[in-house]
Amino acid sequence: MQADLLRCPLANLGSLQDQARLAWKNSVRCIGRLHWKSLQVRDERSLEDTGQIFDALVKHLETATNGGRIIPTMTVFSAWKSPESEIRIWNHQLIRYAAHERGDGKILGDPMNLALTKVALALGWKAPSTPGRFDLLPLIIQSGDKIGIYKLPKGAVLEVKLRHPAYPWFEALGLRWYAVPALSDQIFATGNEVYPCAPFNGWYMGTEIGARDLADTNRYNQLPVIAEKLGLETQRRGSLWRDHALLVLNEAVIHSFMSDGVQLVDHHQASNEFIRFCKNEETAGRQVNADWSWIVPPMSGSTTRVFHRNYVLNPELPNFLTQVPAWKTERGKMLLQRHHIL
Ligand code: ARG
Repeated sequence: MQADLLRCPLANLGSLQDQARLAWKNSVRCIGRLHWKSLQVRDERSLEDTGQIFDALVKHLETATNGGRIIPTMTVFSAWKSPESEIRIWNHQLIRYAAHERGDGKILGDPMNLALTKVALALGWKAPSTPGRFDLLPLIIQSGDKIGIYKLPKGAVLEVKLRHPAYPWFEALGLRWYAVPALSDQIFATGNEVYPCAPFNGWYMGTEIGARDLADTNRYNQLPVIAEKLGLETQRRGSLWRDHALLVLNEAVIHSFMSDGVQLVDHHQASNEFIRFCKNEETAGRQVNADWSWIVPPMSGSTTRVFHRNYVLNPELPNFLTQVPAWKTERGKMLLQRHHIL
């Protein structure tokens, strides 16, 4: 018995919810792990029908959004048994904005979702007649030999319009973002079971939106626009116009979420909380595994405490694993093809 346990240390770890919480606690890229014990698990392992799976995902979003007081939530669908019965969500997150290809080769919307947008179009999704930068993509759900494509009801998606406390012109940029980041394409691996469909969410850290989603040149690329409005010297790299604009954009993200009562953590608080998490773990005699390059926030790194230390990186199960995009798997390709024939 003892020997068995040693050989399979991950067996009998406890309830599904305990294992899900451990997967979060073990996520080497996540700075928000102090809150791992608050994760709420919805057990939907009995569902097979794509329509019922979609309904469960809408419920997930509604309960997790909770009017802005976001509840870390995970919905677990059935464990992997065979390719024929696999359940997968094809979207990277439950809420994502479309990428519209325009005639001039430019993209309107979130370029990160170009491949997914193309798949949605191929499956019959119709983009709005006047395409915009923040058009919600439908959910694409695979189960058995079916693919279902479903529009999220407006009420299930809370969004925040961005404005800045000091610059009235900011609002006219028309920027917005959604409240709940719900990763939906990762595997939840417990050690006993593998769940290819187990979407989960926490709340945002401001810089994810303000220093990446809306700022990266291969995403919404808003720094030049903001710098222009601020009247900065964009011709001179050394004027640090990018850095100024980045700060203003991040102020707007934090200000707007806070004003709307939508939960969000700034990078300084997140960093302090992560240090507390490390202390708790170390006090309990456990080692924290973390990837420095992901833990350190994408702006003002050295002003946060997480920057000034090292971490070991030996990921453990339970954990979340990445998987090949569903439309690139043999099964995905086959289902897409069949869908076209029908
Ligand atoms: N970085 C991703 C985004 O900007 C979200 C990843 C998960 N983030 C989280 N706070 N749980 O959409």
